[in-house]
Amino acid sequence: MAKKLFIKTYGCQMNVYDSARMADVLAPLGYGPTDSQADADMVILNTCHIREKAAEKTFSELGRLKQDQARKQAAGGDMIIAVAGCVAQAEGAEIMRRVPEIDIVLGPQTYHRLPEMVARATRARDARRGQPRAFHEKRIGAGVLDTDFPAESKFDHLPEAMAPQGVSAFLAIQEGCDKFCTFCVVPYTRGAEFSRPVEKIIAEARKLSAQGAREITLLGQNVNAYHGDAADGSTWGLARLVREIAEKAPQIERIRYTTSHPRDMDDDLIAAHGDVPQLMPFLHLPVQSGSDRILAEMNRQHTADHYRRIIERLRDVRPDLALSSDFIVGFPGESDADFAATMKLIEDVTFAQSFSFKYSPRPGTPAANIEQQVPLEVMDVRLQALQAVLEKQLIDFNRTTLGKTVPVLLERAGRDAGQLVGKSPYLQAVHVTAPTTFIGAVADVEITDLGHYTLGGVLAAGPAAMFEPERAIA
Ligand code: 5AD
Ligand code: SF4
Repeated sequence: MAKKLFIKTYGCQMNVYDSARMADVLAPLGYGPTDSQADADMVILNTCHIREKAAEKTFSELGRLKQDQARKQAAGGDMIIAVAGCVAQAEGAEIMRRVPEIDIVLGPQTYHRLPEMVARATRARDARRGQPRAFHEKRIGAGVLDTDFPAESKFDHLPEAMAPQGVSAFLAIQEGCDKFCTFCVVPYTRGAEFSRPVEKIIAEARKLSAQGAREITLLGQNVNAYHGDAADGSTWGLARLVREIAEKAPQIERIRYTTSHPRDMDDDLIAAHGDVPQLMPFLHLPVQSGSDRILAEMNRQHTADHYRRIIERLRDVRPDLALSSDFIVGFPGESDADFAATMKLIEDVTFAQSFSFKYSPRPGTPAANIEQQVPLEVMDVRLQALQAVLEKQLIDFNRTTLGKTVPVLLERAGRDAGQLVGKSPYLQAVHVTAPTTFIGAVADVEITDLGHYTLGGVLAAGPAAMFEPERAIA
């Protein structure tokens, strides 16, 4: 009988991708997805450790899960609980100690070993069934903890079969980070930078295309640091990889990549934005701060002007490029002048979308030990000021699309009958009345309404071409 799997995902798109691949790994064991956590035979929390209170949130979620598990057990069933992702990597042993009901704790690099972990956890559960509570608390024969950074890559051990992701799909090409920004846990939780070989990525892109994907977002914590091995022994950068996907997976009409670092925006990648039509004119390029002093303290390895220059060069080759960024306010030692420099950079560059955060000391990172932490009240005031400007820029950007006709990739049915939802080149959600047969196609839509996060429009022209998934691979 099919077993029910519920995966709850926090954090970044890499975690969304990892969750999908964990489901792929567990499918051969008879696990299929369910929408109900309380009914599931196995629940995986795929956690994020990047910002504030990540560990606390995980523990309170585990408290609720324990109750669901107890209810299932009282009714004669059982539930395997697994904690995955970056909190698991950073705090695995502590999680095991504090919540004995957990069966599996695994890091982001070991999920290809999940079937073996599930087998061990199931055996342990069977052995414990009917034993007194004290038995559970001593964790006799229970609990699988695997937060290694194994020598073999998980990518080499993941199953070929992938559940289709739909019209817009993610493809992990790179993982980990060697930059060591002083505020960030990623180099510790995801480990050293690793690039997948070119051939494997091209094969996965073609497979996604055959399954109906028309847009691929290439993922990596430091995606433009990509340096993968090609079959002829040479090393390719991201630009060359993008060009190859554009050529070898022609039905992929849109290519995006995230998240990139200013240091790795090389000449070839900038040029690709001008000459690869599939590369969408929207780039998430985090700057974090506009103050050179703070950027140095953050170990970002670039200055504010370096960032400005990159943007200028990108806009030279792709004038309609829209930008998105991440900002941190209240990094230790940030003065009013430093903050003013960030505001100035925002005014100079202008962003279509942004994410901004109050600095939060992450255990084990260098910045957590800096004495001069900025008071919370000061951070609050700065964050509000920063977000007000970014919000205005978002609204202004959306307004520039009003009355224009933009190509929209139609992804799925909307909430209202007859309505589809798709995305503009600038990653804006667009609602439009169109037949469901248009799903998967790019159609010209005239933007007529501005909502806050979504735009509304009317079909100006039908799709130029409709592809059948079966025809995708010759
Ligand atoms: N405090 C606040 N924000 C952080 N980020 C990463 N680490 C921290 C931290 N310690 C933000 C950065 C990064 C985004 C994913 O999360 O802006 O780009
Ligand atoms: Fe973290 Fe910096 Fe690496 Fe981005 S580049 S993942 S912020 S250490």
